[in-house]
Amino acid sequence: MPLSNDPKTLSQAPHPLTPARTGTIPAISSQGTALAAQREKLRLLINSRNPIITVETSEEQRFLEMLAATAQELNVPLYFWSVTEGLGKAGGAALYNSDQPEQALANIATIQGDAIFLLKDFARYCDNDRISRRLRDLADAFRTARRSIVLLAASIQLPSEVAADSAPYQLGLPSSEELLPGVKFVLAEVTRDHALPVALDVAGIGQLAKNLVGLPEEEALRVLRKCVLERSKVDAGLLDDVLEAKREALHTGGLLETMKRDASFTDVAGLQRLRDWIGKRKSALTPEGQRFGLVPPKGVLITGVQGCGKSLAARAVAGEWGYELARLDAGALYDKFVGESEKNLKRALDLAQKLSPVVLWIDEIEKAFASAGSSGDADAGLSQRLLATLLTWMQDREGGVFLAATSNNITILPPEMLRKGRFDEIFFVDLPEAAVRAALFSLHLKKRGRDAAGFDVNKLAVASDGFSGAEIEQAILAGLYTAFNRKQQLSTDVLLEEIHATQPLSVTRAEEITAIREWAKSRAVAAD
Ligand SMILES: Nc1ncnc2c1ncn2[C@@H]1O[C@H](COP(=O)(O)OP(=O)(O)O)[C@@H](O)[C@H]1O
Ligand SMILES: [Mg+2]
Repeated sequence: MPLSNDPKTLSQAPHPLTPARTGTIPAISSQGTALAAQREKLRLLINSRNPIITVETSEEQRFLEMLAATAQELNVPLYFWSVTEGLGKAGGAALYNSDQPEQALANIATIQGDAIFLLKDFARYCDNDRISRRLRDLADAFRTARRSIVLLAASIQLPSEVAADSAPYQLGLPSSEELLPGVKFVLAEVTRDHALPVALDVAGIGQLAKNLVGLPEEEALRVLRKCVLERSKVDAGLLDDVLEAKREALHTGGLLETMKRDASFTDVAGLQRLRDWIGKRKSALTPEGQRFGLVPPKGVLITGVQGCGKSLAARAVAGEWGYELARLDAGALYDKFVGESEKNLKRALDLAQKLSPVVLWIDEIEKAFASAGSSGDADAGLSQRLLATLLTWMQDREGGVFLAATSNNITILPPEMLRKGRFDEIFFVDLPEAAVRAALFSLHLKKRGRDAAGFDVNKLAVASDGFSGAEIEQAILAGLYTAFNRKQQLSTDVLLEEIHATQPLSVTRAEEITAIREWAKSRAVAAD
């Protein structure tokens, strides 16, 4: 498909779009590691002579492309069957009298040598005794050659005797490398049909594909098409539009929520040691760092006193590294569908992997996993299985997902979660020192559009001994109300009044905070 060279429709930059896909089965580059791994799994299933392979997916086209490429690579002939078209090679004529399921199996039996037979929506016929018997006989005969029957459908329920002969293939969500050809195709098509300008280079288009990861291919391309049409051009702004649209389109049952990066460490006062730690590890993410042999970090657990910036710091990691931010709602794991909890967690973790590079933020992790430690709890069994799922994932996951967990009370977390090697580091966030309190006043005054130079922040810092960051922010908000009602400007004196009127948690819950500190002393690294 030739691209338009009309200067009106193109920017100064060379047009980055490659020609569209031709035919129904485009060549797929196997450069991407995720894609390569997917295809390797499929190759392995075929090469290890699994007579029946089941594939449950709504992404029929994508699987067909992958199977076609794999068959070609293995040099094995590929046959297709559907009830409407009968049995035949891709692009070839169907064999005579092969559209009925049982006849199709009879035909398959007569075809000699290596072969893959893709049967669409066939599983539903397997409840029939004659068909299931024939299928099992075939499967038996298949074991001696590289012959596989692939059953493809959106949902597959096989009778147990057939299921015993079959191996499932899981088609994960497409990686950015897999999405790229489709992305280029859609861009070329939409910009040509609607004469839209293009100002995005090759790197930008690669990023576009990355931003769509997490969605099935068709949906990803639909989202892209819609965003381009709404924007009426292809430029850097499209990257954000697509991210935003993806967040809306992702269906994760509310368990995993992709979020806007809303903070970096410029929004955080203090926590210098945590900050340095995160800053240093940024280089592990660069190509130079990887070549040097830096091991990508896996995650931190941030614990400590309430209101001192644990959640804020966890979110800030995403901003600092330019990663996506996704929040796993630990509490939602226990929503009504209890039986589904483990499945949901697995799905959410899987999705997180697809979104990489991503900061996976689990706020107040004890909410989901605390009772795994106590056997008396009614939830303990489920909680233990959820914990096991998480720990296995933490152990096995590939790079690209950084886990930033926070906990208000790590003493109730099961010890296996805290064992060395699970998290790279456990940080303890304490009440801010005077210098940090001064910084907190400056920062939050500035956030409310006030010039900190007009305030005596040192005096405020001294007066707010024992205050958390959240309480300092609160004092400023309350001060704004007071000043407004008195028709004054906000001043140091108004703020001092608010401070004196506040009982900080460190006073009202002194015992609890002392206990947390004692616990952390030997087990965690001070964040400040
Ligand atoms: N160290 C800090 N630097 C900047 N703001 C802070 C800090 N600590 C607390 N805050 C303010 O208080 C709010 C609540 O803090 P949060 O991170 O939710 O505390 P935690 O998770 O430790 O309970 C933050 O959104 C921020 O506005
Ligand atoms: Mg918090």
